[in-house]
Amino acid sequence: MTSPVWHPFTQHGLGEAIPLVTHADGAAIHTADGARIVDAISSWWVTTHGHNHPRIAAAIADQAQRLDQIIFAGWTHEPAETLAQALVDLMPAPLAHVFYSDSGSTSVEVALKMALGYWANRGEPHDRILVMEHSYHGDTIGAMSVGARGVFTRSYTPLLFDVGTIPFPGADAQPTLDALEAQARAGAAALIVEPLVLGAGGMKFYAPEILTEMRAICARYGVLFIADEVMTGWGRTGTLLACKQARVVPDLLCLSKGLTGGAVPLAVTMATPEIFDAHYATDRARMFFHSSSYTANPIACAAANANLAIWRDEPVIARIDLLATRQADRLARIAAHPSVTGARRAGTIAAFEIGGGEGYLADIAPLLTRYARENNVLLRPLGDTVYVMPPYCIDEADLDAVYAMVEHFLDEASA
Ligand SMILES: Cc1ncc(COP(=O)(O)O)c(C=O)c1O
Repeated sequence: MTSPVWHPFTQHGLGEAIPLVTHADGAAIHTADGARIVDAISSWWVTTHGHNHPRIAAAIADQAQRLDQIIFAGWTHEPAETLAQALVDLMPAPLAHVFYSDSGSTSVEVALKMALGYWANRGEPHDRILVMEHSYHGDTIGAMSVGARGVFTRSYTPLLFDVGTIPFPGADAQPTLDALEAQARAGAAALIVEPLVLGAGGMKFYAPEILTEMRAICARYGVLFIADEVMTGWGRTGTLLACKQARVVPDLLCLSKGLTGGAVPLAVTMATPEIFDAHYATDRARMFFHSSSYTANPIACAAANANLAIWRDEPVIARIDLLATRQADRLARIAAHPSVTGARRAGTIAAFEIGGGEGYLADIAPLLTRYARENNVLLRPLGDTVYVMPPYCIDEADLDAVYAMVEHFLDEASA
């Protein structure tokens, strides 16, 4: 029987089997044919503490019995109020305002609109957005516009707006900083960046000092600084926010994925009082014109409150440190493999390149993805970049299984 489901980022014409997942627990998912599969990519980077965390599952069940959904324009509810205050307490000052949306992409759209609204309401119509080469910020039109252009965006080019691109920092970061300075001096509304790790662009890492410098340049020229921590947030790079390692606080902060521990969709865009105040007036024409039907859905907010309670009550950073150490150890071993180059790690994220570029190894991502699935690992390389980004609860045996599978694949591929 053919399924009517149209899957994301999937070429159905290749006829690949799509496994039916029935349940999950901790760092594993289970399929209808009885396989237990190690989730080495946290189900697209969302699952932080582990699948079906009992505290998050209980909060969702409890909230679903009380209040499932309520329009959020002109109405409020306790889970949203509690969550907003908890986020303000947890995230760095002066991020004092919380705007809810539903996904990483929408949190980016909101940040971009807030930046332009800020300038428009001040009567200074800056509208140019600066971005970093190789960035990814989501798949809605605005998010695509501020992301890298390529095969993913080619068909939609007429919908995308122009941006100013600064080069990804190489061994010498000066060209990046010089380009940012020149474009900031010329006038721009905002810079949007993925702090320390460019995820979908190929797990490209850059040093905290560069982020610090970029933030300083934006501050010097009055360019708003948007940190997209949709992937890097909630401990992935070793600290709650990647920005913390660079000691910077953005004007706008985008969070999603791990906000609910990865259980249900929710996002926030946090803003400084300056940005909120630019929209604050008795004039309705100056309000922030954005909403979606499920803004601040109570069940999603309850899940996020449970996630924040886990961060408060449990040794989450200690678990992250342990996973980071274990990742470093496995990475050092696999780096010795002749087919592996560019081994690197940021907190719990390990990445490396594989393949020789030609022949069998050239089209390596789909081959490895399939091999992983056949060997009970969920992995999804980005081209020839392999990354391992598991939930923090993964144990040593499961982590070893992931790396052993990659090693076997490389041995077989180069045999
Ligand atoms: C840095 C970053 N921003 C935004 C997004 C988009 O998030 P979503 O897929 O929830 O729309 C992603 C998704 O991977 C991301 O990595």
